[in-house]
Amino acid sequence: MTNNNNMSRRDFLKIASIGGAGVVVGSTGLGTSLLAINHFGKDNKHTKHKVNFYGKYQSGIISDVQKHVYFVVLELHSTEVNEVKEMFKQWTAHSIKLMNGDLIAPLTNNTMLPTIDTGEAKGLDAARLTLTYGVSPTFFDKLKITEKRPKDLKDLPHFPKDQLDDKFTGGDIVIQACSDDPQVNFHAIRNLIRASSGIVTMKWAQTGFNSFEEKDGKVQTPRNLFSFKDGTGNPKAHEQDALDQYIFSNSGWEKNGSYLVVRKIQMHLETWDRTALEDQEATFGRHRDSGAPLGKKNEFDTVNIEEKDKEGNYVIPEDSHVHLAKKAKTKMLRRSFSYTNGVNEQTGAFDAGLIFVSYQKSPEQFTRIQNMLGRIDRMNEYITHRGSGVFLVFPGIKEGGYIGETLFNSI
Ligand code: HEM
Repeated sequence: MTNNNNMSRRDFLKIASIGGAGVVVGSTGLGTSLLAINHFGKDNKHTKHKVNFYGKYQSGIISDVQKHVYFVVLELHSTEVNEVKEMFKQWTAHSIKLMNGDLIAPLTNNTMLPTIDTGEAKGLDAARLTLTYGVSPTFFDKLKITEKRPKDLKDLPHFPKDQLDDKFTGGDIVIQACSDDPQVNFHAIRNLIRASSGIVTMKWAQTGFNSFEEKDGKVQTPRNLFSFKDGTGNPKAHEQDALDQYIFSNSGWEKNGSYLVVRKIQMHLETWDRTALEDQEATFGRHRDSGAPLGKKNEFDTVNIEEKDKEGNYVIPEDSHVHLAKKAKTKMLRRSFSYTNGVNEQTGAFDAGLIFVSYQKSPEQFTRIQNMLGRIDRMNEYITHRGSGVFLVFPGIKEGGYIGETLFNSI
């Protein structure tokens, strides 16, 4: 991990000290206008698992994946750059506290008023909370700063098998809250949105989960709801060359930002569960239990899509997910979570799937891979893309700075 390890006490004190500087914030959504938040306060003894808010990149991209996500897409109702800038400053101040395991304000003794913090995270650990913020192409249009929109930030093309629902597509701002505690995520999102009511509303949200087997004291790659290890082929956080080449932007105000593509993908579990294990493995091109490429033993053995058996057939089938994804000759960082939303009322089947999230230097990388998967990918029979979004996740925040600062400074 380069930038967002669990925080040392020194880091914590650095963050705590900016509270003294007094961050000016806008409306709290309670009709109260806070002039300054200057109670970043005392070390929070109960909180053990903190991720650093500051860094070269925002937290929640190369940070170790957590168990839960609350992913929310917002609509912007302001056309005032300054108002939106203040909102990001306020979200910055709140994020620092939330990631520290603190409430955004002490619960007051004044019982005649609603409390500033809603309170349900009181006493809870920070649980490795990360908060990741990004904006879509329409964000720039609404604020009439279209000239500041990086040329790569544009809507994704339509893909052949898409069945997108407008309800889960588009939007102006994304916040990805990840932690090991769903209540910590919910509390964070709830309080961030409450603090900016009137400026943003929620368009869609999705919770998701990952579970981790531990082997010999090491956390293993999580399995998705098709029971395959998901994330094996990702570039690793310490592979700086790969991060530079494939994940983070290296120019303009967006330097060290990254493009986030989200796809809400329904997975037809009942169909999958009727499929023989051999066919399931041929669908992905990997062994289910070990996660190894077909014909190999270990999860991280090299994937060679050119390899053929004695009969001249590809060992990793040409129409398998991994074969095709690799054939696109580019990379992305996938940080997906499974979801279950109860029962599909029309079919009586599970309403379940993957909240697919990938980070890349340009959305073009996603498009290239998705086009390669196209109609050919064997996995298509078992999935349907229902929602979509593309966002530019802002660069990491310098100490004392705020989310989106490089953009707002460039205006
Ligand atoms: C429900 C949908 C999906 C499921 C269940 C799924 C599952 C998997 C699994 C099990 C692997 C192999 C292990 C790994 O390397 O992580 C994999 C690899 C991969 N997937 Fe997906 N995937 C889905 C959708 C997508 C989409 C939409 C894309 C991008 C357009 C994508 C891109 C990739 C890439 C780039 C790899 C790594 C290939 C490599 O370099 O080895 N996947 N996926």
